[in-house]
Amino acid sequence: MWVLEKTLGDPTQMVHLNGPESLERISRRHRAYVRMSSDRSAGCMYTIITGPEKHSVGNVGYWEAEWEGEKAWETGWFVLPEFQRMGIAAAATKLLISHVALLDRRFLLAFPSVGNQPSNAICRKLGFARILEKDLEYPPESGKRLRVNVWRFDLNGPEPAPG
Ligand SMILES: CC(C)(COP(=O)(O)OP(=O)(O)OC[C@H]1O[C@@H](n2cnc3c(N)ncnc32)[C@H](O)[C@@H]1OP(=O)(O)O)[C@@H](O)C(=O)NCCC(=O)NCCS
Repeated sequence: MWVLEKTLGDPTQMVHLNGPESLERISRRHRAYVRMSSDRSAGCMYTIITGPEKHSVGNVGYWEAEWEGEKAWETGWFVLPEFQRMGIAAAATKLLISHVALLDRRFLLAFPSVGNQPSNAICRKLGFARILEKDLEYPPESGKRLRVNVWRFDLNGPEPAPG
């Protein structure tokens, strides 16, 4: 819960996500993540723990989504500011992909906002294919729009090169 408060509740962390969430909304999310993570076939939110001191430095997760009428997974990540730019989010997402690849869905999706350089860099670097750009309502049911890139990772193998 405190990792969520320090990420979702911090305006500097939410610049690319339409601003911070209220404590009430964060508590609701926390309960939903705990519920979801009790059955990993439905999704899981992991806390990222690093180093000999076992610092909790962020989170990465996957949850159910849909791609062109087929069941898929969606992923997302946060790293606390003092631990950013050390390769932690990319390493954690790589581990997550190796786990999700064992489940029975073909695509893992990510929707970083178009201006979110580190998140778009993570997708590019890990081999996601950029499919298109679109407007999303984020947070859900907020009425706020977010322009995002749709990135798709093929869990069955590499995507063919464009062109
Ligand atoms: C996005 C976020 C999780 C990245 O975490 P991180 O651990 O710092 O990321 P990494 O160190 O693994 O870096 C991944 C890539 O992003 C690049 N990057 C990191 N911070 C960057 C920045 N501020 N500007 C530009 N590129 C950046 C890195 O150079 C790296 O690319 P490279 O390997 O090609 O050099 C972190 O910035 C964050 O929590 N942001 C706020 C929350 C958020 O926007 N979450 C994503 C929602 S989709």
